[in-house]
Amino acid sequence: MNNLLSNKNGLIFGALDENSIAWKVAEKCYEEGANIVLTNAPIALRMGKIDILSKKCKSEVIPADITSLDDLENLFIKSKKIFDGKIDFILHSVGMSPNVRKNKNYGDLNYDWFLKTLDISGISFHKIMQVSEKLDSINEWGSIVGLSYIAAQKTFPFYSDMAEAKSVLESVTRSYGYRLGKMKNIRVNTISQSPTKTTAGKGIKAFESFYKFAEKMSPLGNASAEDCANYCVFLFSDLSRKITMQNLFHDGGFSNTGISEEIIDSFN
Ligand SMILES: NC(=O)c1ccc[n+]([C@@H]2O[C@H](COP(=O)([O-])OP(=O)(O)OC[C@H]3O[C@@H](n4cnc5c(N)ncnc54)[C@H](O)[C@@H]3O)[C@@H](O)[C@H]2O)c1
Repeated sequence: MNNLLSNKNGLIFGALDENSIAWKVAEKCYEEGANIVLTNAPIALRMGKIDILSKKCKSEVIPADITSLDDLENLFIKSKKIFDGKIDFILHSVGMSPNVRKNKNYGDLNYDWFLKTLDISGISFHKIMQVSEKLDSINEWGSIVGLSYIAAQKTFPFYSDMAEAKSVLESVTRSYGYRLGKMKNIRVNTISQSPTKTTAGKGIKAFESFYKFAEKMSPLGNASAEDCANYCVFLFSDLSRKITMQNLFHDGGFSNTGISEEIIDSFN
């Protein structure tokens, strides 16, 4: 523990259960001295285990559907009251595709669901920044992080319309990152994370194969949720003040590996 986040206020979206990346991030941020407010969709709060985390991190939980501007407004107003001040960092760890969940083939997408996928997993990143800008909820030199996947750049069959959503997420990172950087020195980045065994991860068809393939391709092996949490702490801390508008690969080297010896060997 290095007290990297002492006196910082953080809002964390997306902790569902102990496997969630956001869960690990909340634990680490708390260990590093941050004050935390947790949020998730009302249905996830009913079905998940967030009470355990909120006790552990002494944090309040505010329900918000991340696609609802009213919910987000309420969330930012309440957070300000709880913190008795503005927010220093935000984690967007939210993703969901009804098409993936309902096993729709990429050539047979339901377009209403496709729009839902984009809204929940991509446009919501814009929504949280727009609402927080209007309410002036974030401190100077704040840090905002979203979680992405390499399917935004390269095709991974079965990732389906989530690939489009991640491309939106990464594009919003650049556009809003520019705006908030100019306005208030606030930085905005995405972490492009290895396959990770969580509820959302396992919802992708053939996830186990993705996971094993990436493990064998990456010279450092897959990055775990704990590894990701450490990286988030760095990005929320004052050690990363000039990193912004980036998609940061956190994948054990996967993204820059053409082929590994292990994969070649697996054909022999
Ligand atoms: N698991 C992986 O392999 C992997 C890899 C790269 C990136 N990611 C990304 O990491 C992020 C976190 O996912 P995770 O793997 O921890 O899985 P997870 O299932 O634990 O987390 C996803 C969260 O999104 C929340 N959510 C869904 N719809 C919502 C809504 N309308 N409003 C508010 N919250 C909503 C869920 O309740 C859940 O807490 C996602 O963006 C995911 O795409 C995951």
